Amino acid sequence: MEQRSDSTHSPTRGVDPAKPAGVAAVRGTAFDAPELGRIRVREDALFVISRDGAIERVLLPEDDSYQPQLEQLRSIGALTELGAHEYLFPGLIDLHNHAPQWPQLGKALDVPLSVWLDRYTFPLEAKYADVGFAETVYRSLVKGMLANGTSTAVYFATVHLPATRRLAEICLQHGQRALVGRVAMDSPASCPDYYRDASAAVALEETASLIEHVQSLDGNGAGLVRPVVTPRFIPSCTDELLRGLGAVAADAGAHIQTHCSESDWAHQFGLERFGRTDTATYLDFGLLTRRSILAHSNFVTAADMELIAAAGAAVAHCPLSNFYFANAVFPLRAALERGVHVGLGTDISGGPGVSIFRAMTDCVVASRVREDGVDPKLEPENRGIGDSRVTFAEAFWLGTTGGGIALDLPIGVLSPGYAFDAVAVDARVADTDLVVWEGLDELEDIFQKTIHSATRNNIATVWVQGRAVHRRSAVTNPV
Ligand code: GUN
Ligand code: FE
Repeated sequence: MEQRSDSTHSPTRGVDPAKPAGVAAVRGTAFDAPELGRIRVREDALFVISRDGAIERVLLPEDDSYQPQLEQLRSIGALTELGAHEYLFPGLIDLHNHAPQWPQLGKALDVPLSVWLDRYTFPLEAKYADVGFAETVYRSLVKGMLANGTSTAVYFATVHLPATRRLAEICLQHGQRALVGRVAMDSPASCPDYYRDASAAVALEETASLIEHVQSLDGNGAGLVRPVVTPRFIPSCTDELLRGLGAVAADAGAHIQTHCSESDWAHQFGLERFGRTDTATYLDFGLLTRRSILAHSNFVTAADMELIAAAGAAVAHCPLSNFYFANAVFPLRAALERGVHVGLGTDISGGPGVSIFRAMTDCVVASRVREDGVDPKLEPENRGIGDSRVTFAEAFWLGTTGGGIALDLPIGVLSPGYAFDAVAVDARVADTDLVVWEGLDELEDIFQKTIHSATRNNIATVWVQGRAVHRRSAVTNPV
């Protein structure tokens, strides 16, 4: 952990002090992770935010212009000052979330992936033919995700175009940065009659239509909400659909999301059908690009990792879901060492957790399990896979900076040029488990404790693109 008190690397160097400030500013002690494994701490930093919601400059108390700027901003009522026990973090980024599965969160976790899809998930997703139902669920979800500090979410919706449009509109209304995908799944061999695209052509046409709709939404000129081309996974899509979706994505320059080599069953399915791994198949169909997010990817080979890294594609690592459905732990450390872009996902509802802070903790735990192994009858040296662990600081990077890199968007870091997507964590709220002990806890400890213990009651404010889009409702019992 590095505590920055010098101004040698001040981002204000070279900035003309006469330049008018942005329209708003936030002052507080901030944590972020510009590089993997390094936590930057800036005490009482002043984040000056431009009219378009980007961070224009960051001033530290030792900078000459800090005090005058502070006073000027205060005098025009443009300054938000964090409370004494509040800390600023980058907004959390959830790279993989099934919006229609929100009502299923925390249940239906007792069977393997293929049974889970058939028995629970497809019947639930089929209900989104009803836009009224979708409206209720999606509004609840988007508000819930924001309340948990998720400023950016990458959503799978369902095959239903009207409901998927609605999800995009709701994200925009609530100010959540989002990528929204209409799920494409046309294979009669793997998808039930009651929940399947009528044909590849229909899925392609509706995917193109969603792209057009989202890009032309009123108030979405800056692209806060974006479309994402969404083949569900290899078993659910015909060759024609996979090929067509690759072409649609290329035409639109759109993001792509799918599931990749998630479980033994899913991975084997792809191998048997195509004689090659999911990653190689996606590459062949034009679905492995700089803007692709591959959920899970637990069974990827070394050659797959080379392909993913070469394409600049990303893995959405979903550690909690993987404990239930993956049959294995993602080789995270190896992926990072090979230059694969990686961020974190909740995989709601395959993962019964909402918070990306929780995903960070789960990511550390999964990496420890992978490293130590699981069978106490084996000798320690034969039990696990050495050099697999990641630290909490690395996990934090994955849920913030790594997510931004994966999406190729300027988010996840609190530096000039990035969007002001941020979360104020309140570390002094009764009835929460984030307790700071005077005299015992340094800033580093508060940072660690936040990752491990912060819940929605600790999330005081969430900003997206400079706008406060969530404020915690009154805490019943402030300390
Ligand atoms: N593979 C195909 N569909 C799904 C899904 O909805 N969740 C997960 N975890 N894996 C999938
Ligand atoms: Fe998933």
